Amino acid sequence: MYTWDELERSIVNCGRCMLCKKRIQAVPGKGNHSSQIMLVAEAPGKQEDLQGIPFVGPAGKVLDILLTSAGLNRKDVYITNIVKCHPPGNRDPLPEEQETCMQYLRAETTLLHPPIIVCLGRIAAQKLISPNFKISREHGMWTHRKGYWMTAVYHPSAILRDPAKLEEAKQDFQSIISKVREIEESKYPL
Ligand code: URA
Repeated sequence: MYTWDELERSIVNCGRCMLCKKRIQAVPGKGNHSSQIMLVAEAPGKQEDLQGIPFVGPAGKVLDILLTSAGLNRKDVYITNIVKCHPPGNRDPLPEEQETCMQYLRAETTLLHPPIIVCLGRIAAQKLISPNFKISREHGMWTHRKGYWMTAVYHPSAILRDPAKLEEAKQDFQSIISKVREIEESKYPL
């Protein structure tokens, strides 16, 4: 069992897969260590590789729009990725890279123990919810698994490529807020 500091140190020094050879730096998760909401995307992009912080590039601006639309900001959530190092050329992380890095996501999940896990995009949803997950058909739907409420929304980069997806993603973020309320109300029934 890690502490947050030990986990961050392990990620920053990780050499468990080939992604470490080409990265500038690994990108540990960041945010509120008491949050009810863990957002999980696929892998750091170029800007994230430079700065060592998740979602600081163009996709991060879209993520901020989505958070703001739901009355949230970065201090309210914890943001991480399935793999912690930037895949060269921005390719999708390979299944074996994802599997090797899962130990860190498992440790983050154990430390945070969030009631809600939100997958940002297809890759995270296929890894965490179902291998056949279809993001265009199943975004915004909820499943309850191993004590976690899980959903997926469009990846902010997909919204950058197709801004018509923004409204649907905002609605999905509203449903995250509804889920937070539902969980609170179930803890303290009238
Ligand atoms: N895209 C991702 O999937 N993760 C980041 O941290 C940034 C961009």
